[in-house]
Amino acid sequence: IGARIIHRMVDGPLGGIAARVSVCTRCGLCEGRTNAVPGTGPASARAILVGEAPGREEDLQGKPFVGGAGRVLDKELERAGIPRSTVYITNVVKCRPPKNRVPSDEERDACIEYLKEEISVINPRIVCILGATALRSLLGLGGITGIRGTIINQDNTDYLVSLHPAATMYRRDLLPAFRRDMKKLAGMILST
Ligand code: URA
Repeated sequence: IGARIIHRMVDGPLGGIAARVSVCTRCGLCEGRTNAVPGTGPASARAILVGEAPGREEDLQGKPFVGGAGRVLDKELERAGIPRSTVYITNVVKCRPPKNRVPSDEERDACIEYLKEEISVINPRIVCILGATALRSLLGLGGITGIRGTIINQDNTDYLVSLHPAATMYRRDLLPAFRRDMKKLAGMILST
């Protein structure tokens, strides 16, 4: 059993969202969590990266992408010239599903409002979709393979569709594509 994290209060609207996430009981995942995991990063971020849901390490630390997938993400962001501290990193679902199962439709629906708020507060240049759960939740689309690496504009927001970094741990052959996507993300961050 891990310890609950008392978050250092973040000012402003993002802090308000994080505070509400940390005590959220909108779905059953609140019962099994150690910590809810709000997004992290500056309100001035030009990019938001959206994963699926916290894993074990994230649940223990109360921070997104701090386990194995996070190490892949850190490395590939750095390789693409994107300091992690400049982007906002979050998940569709803010609490860890049991045994890291894929979140259910109900869990996604219960949580999606927080993600929409994070995106609307930050109003980023680009939202980077990391994997199938984020793709389904944000764009209502299934099947990453055909559209990976493309930018989709919906409701005046640009979305870059990419893989979940964990996928490259199981399938090393996917790493070059993920690297290209992170380079594309770097270009979008700098573009007007
Ligand atoms: N996988 C995710 O989708 N999100 C995390 O925060 C960690 C692993």
